[in-house]
Amino acid sequence: MKGILLAGGSGSRLYPLTTITSKQLLPVYDKPLICYPLSTLMMLGITDILIISTPKDTPVIEDYLGDGADLGITLSYTVQDEPKGIAEAFVIGDEFIGDDPVTLILGDNIFNFGPQIQSIANTLQSDFDGALIFGYYVTDPQRFGVIEYDESYDVLSLEEKPKQPKSNYAAVGLYAYDNTVVEYAKNLKPSARGELEITDLNLKYLEKTALKALPFKRGIAWLDAGTPHSLLAAANYVEMIERMQGLKLCCPEEVAYRMGYISVNDLKQKIKNIKDCDYTEYLENHVIHQKG
Ligand code: DAU
Repeated sequence: MKGILLAGGSGSRLYPLTTITSKQLLPVYDKPLICYPLSTLMMLGITDILIISTPKDTPVIEDYLGDGADLGITLSYTVQDEPKGIAEAFVIGDEFIGDDPVTLILGDNIFNFGPQIQSIANTLQSDFDGALIFGYYVTDPQRFGVIEYDESYDVLSLEEKPKQPKSNYAAVGLYAYDNTVVEYAKNLKPSARGELEITDLNLKYLEKTALKALPFKRGIAWLDAGTPHSLLAAANYVEMIERMQGLKLCCPEEVAYRMGYISVNDLKQKIKNIKDCDYTEYLENHVIHQKG
């Protein structure tokens, strides 16, 4: 299973913050936003990842994350010239995807999975067929793609930002597809707003009865940090969880170590390369000395 992290877009909803830096490099409490979706892919067992961003931001993101070797993963980079839609990721990523299935995560989505992550990871790592998306119960569904379910949680309909949502289940920014996604994406027509819509792509799978939409269980946190309000809410959430537990959420170095992508010596080397600070103190005292 390959991974794509889509970290471009115009960032207009976060203007003027996004005139200074890319949305995905803005801080969410103690780390850049991109660390959260990157760590999620890593926790799902995905280690070959393509990061797609704008011509301006891609070199900055690459400068920060590099080729992933120090996290025991492989990171590559491609530019999306203009924000022509989320589904364009599969057209741009065609060569990277090759003959594999692929999971896409949006660069402004933050997840805090409970134990459900293991079963999702197992599904993604087994012979993957069709498309898998996830529904999350929200109070403001009109901001999102909306999934309508029947009583057995089979999908009845899927709509992008409907004015009158048919349910409270938002489609979150995490999507897994078999290899036909590339062909489907290439044949999509731009929507009225001129974008290749992820919802239209998912509808192709729904037409072929190849779309599964798992509802997330209660207790899982999902935040879309794409507006000033939701960015602050995400930072407040991360600060509270980290302060109460003393454990960081989505710290890529910690995830790399706990997932076994890097050894204790690799992590020690990484710590040496960073100046002493709270972050290295955490990795030293809470990750290396209290692995659990
Ligand atoms: O967050 C979940 C929602 O994400 C879903 O419920 C919706 O169905 C889906 O369309 C999407 O809606 P958004 O309005 O949040 O999408 P947005 O335009 O903010 O783009 C999401 C991320 O993808 C953001 O980090 C920017 C990036 N992006 C977006 C577009 C359109 C790109 O990198 N390139 C693009 O062309």
